[in-house]
Amino acid sequence: MTVTETSEVMAASQSAPSERGVRRDIATLVTGAGGEVGHGLIAALHAAGRKDIIAIDIRALDDRQRALCRETYVGDICETALLGRLQSMYEITEVYHLAALLSTRTEFVPEAAHAVNVGGMFNLLRLAADQARSHGKRVRFMFPSSIAVYGLGDLKTKNRAGAIGEDQYLQPTTMYGCNKVYCENLGRYYARHYRQLAQDRMDHILDFRCIRFPGLISAETVPCGGTSDFAAQMVHAAAEGKPYACFVRPDTRMAFMTMPDAIEAFLRLAGADAGHLSRCVYNVTSFNPSAAEFADLVREYFPAARISFEPDPQRQAIVDSWPVDVDDTAARTDWGYSPKHDLRSAFEEYLVPNVTARYAKS
Ligand code: SER
Repeated sequence: MTVTETSEVMAASQSAPSERGVRRDIATLVTGAGGEVGHGLIAALHAAGRKDIIAIDIRALDDRQRALCRETYVGDICETALLGRLQSMYEITEVYHLAALLSTRTEFVPEAAHAVNVGGMFNLLRLAADQARSHGKRVRFMFPSSIAVYGLGDLKTKNRAGAIGEDQYLQPTTMYGCNKVYCENLGRYYARHYRQLAQDRMDHILDFRCIRFPGLISAETVPCGGTSDFAAQMVHAAAEGKPYACFVRPDTRMAFMTMPDAIEAFLRLAGADAGHLSRCVYNVTSFNPSAAEFADLVREYFPAARISFEPDPQRQAIVDSWPVDVDDTAARTDWGYSPKHDLRSAFEEYLVPNVTARYAKS
């Protein structure tokens, strides 16, 4: 429950052997812990009784989140020195690698984003593989990918394609999407083929499991930096009594799900019997309204909502390259994916009560 700056981590690790003896503490590592998914995930892991969470984020976590973690660290996943210190202090059995720059933010600084999204992933996979070799047990590595891995070319293709499967249309137009496709492949490589020609190869060193999330809508956090943000931003603005100019056209259609369903799916996949998993990477989805249909629902629940449409051509092009829907049959069949919320109940049971309460407080 303490925040440790990088320099303190170094100090702690330098004195680690005498203080801690030869046995390191068992830990579940969560990166990007302060982000939208991190908030929900840490709360859910803690609620499930996990007392071994160590969390990293580039910024200090808030007090509420810190209280749910065993230890928190402020630092950059590109800093191998920090990760090395964690290696010396913990026996990491599970990694939830959430840290990334999202699709909109990435298009301003593609090279820097590549360093975080790909370089960071590489560092974490390497850490997990080193851990598995040092404690002799397979490390579970959970990775959130995205519908941004898809690239449908043009609107006609997007509309014709309908719900697409995991292996179709993998030609993303964003750096974020390219990063995610490559990271999925890196994870699969470490899980199935790592050091395949080496004499001392340890079989299946990582248990890599990945979900391609659609746009996520959280009542607890307001998204920024992503291109699917318009739906959640519309609801939050309405609840806060602020006008909202939607940056995509009213007819824009893509897949979404609520944050609680996303967290539940991630944890369900993490806990699934490995023998039932036919693939490393799974699509999931819940509903796919057009932006106009979504705005109509927001107006139904918040009659004073002031929503306008002012499409941004560049961000529109990104959403136009993402599928209208994805086929999540494999997730439903292999590990029982079954979202609780459809579009109506997402509003009724989750978004409206929670965003209303959130802005009533402030
Ligand atoms: N929500 C992400 C983004 O908009 C896509 O997965 O970048």
